Amino acid sequence: MVINMDFNKAHDKLAKYGQEHVLKYYNELSQESKDALLGQIAGTDFSVTANVTGGIKESPRGVITPIKVMTLDEINAGRENFVKAGLEIIRAGKAGAVLLAGGMGTRLGSDNPKGMYDIGITKPVYIFQRIIRNLLDVVDMAGTWIHLFIMTSDKNHKATTAFFKEKDYFTYNPDYIHFFKQDMAPAATYSGKVYMEAKDKIATSPNGNGGWYSSMQNAGITDFIHKAGIEWLNVFAVDNVLQRIADPCFIGAVAQKNCAVGAKVVRKSDPDEKVGVMCLEDGRPSIVEYYEQTEQLRNTKDENGEPAYNFGVILNYLFHEKELEEICNNELPLHIVEKKIPYMDENGSFINPEEPNGYKFETLILDMIHMLDTCLPFEVERNKEFAPIKNKTGIDSIESARKLLEENGISL
Ligand code: UTP
Repeated sequence: MVINMDFNKAHDKLAKYGQEHVLKYYNELSQESKDALLGQIAGTDFSVTANVTGGIKESPRGVITPIKVMTLDEINAGRENFVKAGLEIIRAGKAGAVLLAGGMGTRLGSDNPKGMYDIGITKPVYIFQRIIRNLLDVVDMAGTWIHLFIMTSDKNHKATTAFFKEKDYFTYNPDYIHFFKQDMAPAATYSGKVYMEAKDKIATSPNGNGGWYSSMQNAGITDFIHKAGIEWLNVFAVDNVLQRIADPCFIGAVAQKNCAVGAKVVRKSDPDEKVGVMCLEDGRPSIVEYYEQTEQLRNTKDENGEPAYNFGVILNYLFHEKELEEICNNELPLHIVEKKIPYMDENGSFINPEEPNGYKFETLILDMIHMLDTCLPFEVERNKEFAPIKNKTGIDSIESARKLLEENGISL
């Protein structure tokens, strides 16, 4: 972060975006608080707030057509060969894994980072523990450690790193675990004015899971990756406790097909399931989010009479790092999301709103797929690899994940 910021520079930066109110209490602050606020101003991108004037406009989609998916039959036929190729890549140290753990996990409603959640019944089983165990399966199979990069945010970095230390990294080799913080974005009112959390603090939140690669660059992790000779990055979400990480079969298949990215997909459980589906958009790989899926799209059939848009993404992607470098200067679309934002009101009181009161600004990893020329959608069995935890109960919850874990022989 560039801390080279004084009051005048900060004022000029804010004035460009009509955010001078951020400095309203500057004169009453202690020197330490003044420095903290100037540091935050230096490290915050206020240009995102300009996007709300005139209401939210999502850019129109291109022409959507079906994409070819590598289905289980095809994978099983080539499995031996794919696994062999994948293991070679892993043993050569060319594959790394990136755990996205910068999210706020608001739906789960715990104050701790999501990965610290204990899903055990008769003994503690933490989400992070499950993830490390899944990765250790591959480490054992390959006979080599795999670098794991863990993205946290300003809000959960301390708690996450302390937890891993306390649990002795769940027997993983700490030399192969690297934490980095994701960049933050300001939260704003409906008219685009940045909220303050305190007199010396702008209300910010992690800038969305699309921020992972630029955050890795800003944290100097990409330099490490280049030195270490890592070519493939398996990026995955914190909340799927069944997923296979650095899966040799997946790595082998994507590498052999010479694709810039691979996306693990599952067959939709029903046409209305709330998952984004893989497709081509104007001939390039893309994902249609569930709320964009029209009746017509849901009913389209392929030449075999199967639904043509039937494969949902599970936030488990394998990126060829070189290609990411090429697209990293292209801007990802900004998603403006209505959220409840805790803030300090006119009288200096802290308010925790019950209803949404403004916007947060995020970029999404799924938009990176459309920037790449080639993508291999790779089918996995949902009952074996997809147990997301978003909520406490109901769909995609602790309850549903526990059931799936037990079905897979994992004692809780
Ligand atoms: P979700 O979109 O499910 O968000 O994240 P979340 O923060 O975990 O949960 P809710 O929506 O507040 O309930 C999918 C994955 O992306 C990561 C999350 O940690 C999760 O692994 N993520 C999300 C980040 O790393 N950074 C972000 O800014 C947002």
